[in-house]
Amino acid sequence: DGEVYKYYADGEWRASASGKTVAIVNPTTRQTQYRVQACTQEEVNKVMDAAKVAQKAWARTPLWKRAELLHKAAAILKEHKAPIAECLVKEIAKPAKDAVSEVVRSGDLVSYTAEEGVRILGEGKLLVSDSFPGNERNKYCLSSKVPLGVVLAIPPFNYPVNLAVSKIGPALIAGNSLVLKPPTQGAVAALHMVHCFHLAGFPKGLISCVTGKGSEIGDFLTMHPGVNCISFTGGDTGIAISKKAGMVPLQMELGGKDACIVLDDADLDLVAANIVKGGFSYSGQRCTAVKVVLIMEAVADTVVEKVNAKVAKLKVGPPEDDCDITPVVTESSANFIEGLVMDAKEKGATFCQEYRREGNLIWPLLLDHVRPDMRIAWEEPFGPVLPVIRINSVEEGIHHCNASNFGLQGCVFTRDINKAIMISDAMESGTVQINSAPARGPDHFPFQGLKDSGIGSQGITNSINMMTKVKSTVINLP
Ligand code: G3P
Repeated sequence: DGEVYKYYADGEWRASASGKTVAIVNPTTRQTQYRVQACTQEEVNKVMDAAKVAQKAWARTPLWKRAELLHKAAAILKEHKAPIAECLVKEIAKPAKDAVSEVVRSGDLVSYTAEEGVRILGEGKLLVSDSFPGNERNKYCLSSKVPLGVVLAIPPFNYPVNLAVSKIGPALIAGNSLVLKPPTQGAVAALHMVHCFHLAGFPKGLISCVTGKGSEIGDFLTMHPGVNCISFTGGDTGIAISKKAGMVPLQMELGGKDACIVLDDADLDLVAANIVKGGFSYSGQRCTAVKVVLIMEAVADTVVEKVNAKVAKLKVGPPEDDCDITPVVTESSANFIEGLVMDAKEKGATFCQEYRREGNLIWPLLLDHVRPDMRIAWEEPFGPVLPVIRINSVEEGIHHCNASNFGLQGCVFTRDINKAIMISDAMESGTVQINSAPARGPDHFPFQGLKDSGIGSQGITNSINMMTKVKSTVINLP
């Protein structure tokens, strides 16, 4: 009934005193694959205490030594890519090759973070007083970046390893300790990743990983007085967290409705390839997936035809066979997607493919002639279903994009760079890609959402800075 995994605290693997476990259901077989510990609030308290103690010593550990350990963890992570990828396949139905790429990308991210950290944190600032009116040159201000304390990291199911290390790496290099609460689907992959940090030899209590039910430990963790920073990626739970969290810096990435605006002078083959890649990679379960196509009427028929030809070639099936479209993460997610599809059907959208579902597996579907009264025009399916809205002017496209609650990324396809830049400036989203589908990476690029898409900016450099604060010492001369 599922292999049982322990949680990680104080440098040890432990079973919870609750005696209870949480089941991880394989999205493909819909059987329990693994079980993780249902940690108690008491266990969370102990983890927080240990993290606080460990952080003090870690902050005094030389920066180059912190970087050295991170490089070691990155190498071990890459060595373990096969077993971790296997967990990703079984827990979140990530296609086999993408699962391996996620782990390799994570190792690279940790190494890059270590390199970036020694540069950023190795520099401070010196200010002199006589630039401000009324002052003589008798005050010298030395400022540098110091850690925040204990960072709480909560990654989502779609990148349980990569979006965990994108928080762990910056936190640790900056001298913080780290408490990880992985998503239930993906928890075992995350525990295995934590094991790599354990093998690298980080001090006891510096990193811990607590698993369990959100209802038992979710709010308890995010409202815990021992937490000094929260980095969260996921859905609108983040909005609730931001309302409940104390006076601590928040970094949040909460999904999107990334628009793809297609002008009539665009390279239509490039457009079709990017719509398919952007809309259907990992079955649309990416925050940065293309989630609505806004296309000029003059080229709409051609693009829809080209996209349909590519959709017909997508391999649908189990992640073990490295299919393009694999089962979505849970049955409730599949039901939600189906609800959006049925709403669009009732309201008269054109189905470019027949709607088909078996268990959690939903065949890729392009919905043409979607109108703003349909839920799918605004809501995020997080599945392989993509709406097309035909537009008669660029302004109409920008208006739809900006009327969304979300503002993560967007993209525009045109051969006219001047128009592209003007559209990018007009789109209310954290990033706009010109002539490519939205994407978070390369991982040192800034990554941020406006409106309900998030708070703060990520990317390696921004995350390191965000997980520090400025400390000043002022030398006053007589
Ligand atoms: O869904 C999470 C978001 O960070 C997407 O990342 O690399 O697929 O663009 P990526």
